[in-house]
Amino acid sequence: MTQLARVATTDTEVCGSKVPEDTRISLCYAAANRDETVFECPNEVKFDRKVNPHVAFGFSIHNCLGSTHARALMNLLIPSLLEKVGRIQLYEAEENIEELGEFNRKVGFHKLNAQFYPA
Ligand code: HEM
Repeated sequence: MTQLARVATTDTEVCGSKVPEDTRISLCYAAANRDETVFECPNEVKFDRKVNPHVAFGFSIHNCLGSTHARALMNLLIPSLLEKVGRIQLYEAEENIEELGEFNRKVGFHKLNAQFYPA
């Protein structure tokens, strides 16, 4: 999931852009997690980031109800991956880019072929 929608309940302004009442707004949490004004080396996977104000599970009243479950799964999955896999070789990647007029948005990959080598 790279974005979620909201509808403005009143005329407002977000980061300098006017948003009239009833306008649909896209919240791109994935982009927020790569904000270089917030994260050092935002495009690097760093499991041990000390200051990590990510919004992968949303925030405030919309915070993900399954986040505790998802975190528990990742706490099992990632150590198991690191124990068993020594190297991941990327062979082919075809990005899925959505063209939205004013900007383009990467929404994942059409194709992603990689090989996992044992540790
Ligand atoms: C890595 C896994 C997951 C990610 C990245 C994720 C991400 C998110 C995000 C960003 C939201 C906020 C949506 C918003 O702002 O409108 C959300 C909401 C929610 N998530 Fe997850 N989620 C994950 C796993 C799960 C699981 C495993 C469950 C259930 C077992 C779950 C149940 C929900 C529910 C019910 C909401 C709505 C909460 C509300 O609006 O009150 N999620 N999730």
